[in-house]
Amino acid sequence: MDAPMSSILPSLEQLAASRVLVVGDAMLDRYWFGSVERISPEAPVPVLNVTREENRLGGAANVAMNVKSLGAQCTLLTVVGDDAAGRTLQELLDQQGVQAVLGTDPQLQTVVKLRVIGRSQQLLRIDFENKPDHEVLRLMLSDYERLLPQHDLVLMSDYGKGGLAHVGQMIQKARAAGKPVLVDPKGSDFSRYAGATAITPNRSELTQVVGPWDSEAQLAERAKALREQLQLQGLLLTRSEEGISLFDAQGHLRLPTQAREVYDVTGAGDTVIGTLAALMACGLTMREAAPHANRAAGIVVSRFGTAAVTRAELAA
Ligand SMILES: Nc1ncnc2c1ncn2[C@@H]1O[C@H](COP(=O)(O)OP(=O)(O)OP(=O)(O)O)[C@@H](O)[C@H]1O
Ligand SMILES: [Mg+2]
Repeated sequence: MDAPMSSILPSLEQLAASRVLVVGDAMLDRYWFGSVERISPEAPVPVLNVTREENRLGGAANVAMNVKSLGAQCTLLTVVGDDAAGRTLQELLDQQGVQAVLGTDPQLQTVVKLRVIGRSQQLLRIDFENKPDHEVLRLMLSDYERLLPQHDLVLMSDYGKGGLAHVGQMIQKARAAGKPVLVDPKGSDFSRYAGATAITPNRSELTQVVGPWDSEAQLAERAKALREQLQLQGLLLTRSEEGISLFDAQGHLRLPTQAREVYDVTGAGDTVIGTLAALMACGLTMREAAPHANRAAGIVVSRFGTAAVTRAELAA
């Protein structure tokens, strides 16, 4: 294990010239805030009087916002439903300056996670989702091929919603074009990510694939085996309150969390991979970028909902 290196942040000009292509499962985080004054006469549940609705970018769309917030150019390739939530997603992406290439599937409901909040407390979460159509996803492969040459790095944000059915082919095409590929993985089969530059699982995602570990040595051993099996240069494990571990050819880089106050951890993993992508698109190595990504995550966990940081905040 070695001490964290701190590297210089790319300049705003360097960031503005770098281009990241984000592909994956986008979603809308919706919040209904209100007051609870009474219990329903129909069932033993509170009645919420909704006073405010808020919509935020979630999943791959939040990752894209994080890339853009640092000052890099960002294109998001994803599939949405032909519905109001899909149009809200498009508007929010436009507001952020993310170029959205949205395939629409009339059979698909745009993924919405609705949180119902009363008295500053989450009362219920309601998820809307179904699987995208295979034909629509196949059509998106041609968009991908068209967009690939215009970008420096590809980021795959897999939330297991079906948008990355062709991830293996997409990784191969990117590597053939000499572009690094970062993947935020999901599910029990990581073989579909073989050949990526690096993957960024959290603790439960890695545990699902390599089993639980009972020591740092055992974790390092399993990370090495997985890296070799999938031919990855790096495996970056996000460890919530334990910060980040990067496993690469040089060994294990351990970065303790930089969070000072923890208010809402939603989307912290998105900030990690989004920051890595923006900085690596500028030419930083994963080892150089990881401490910045850890710092960025430490900042967003002090904010409500999915959030993003700017270069100025990272530099401070
Ligand atoms: N409870 C916490 N305390 C301190 N830091 C945290 C905490 N949770 C997250 N972080 C910071 O955020 C980073 C990413 O968090 P985590 O490992 O929970 O990712 P994740 O589960 O993929 O998150 P999400 O899926 O919500 O985006 C961590 O590496 C750490 O730097
Ligand atoms: Mg995550």
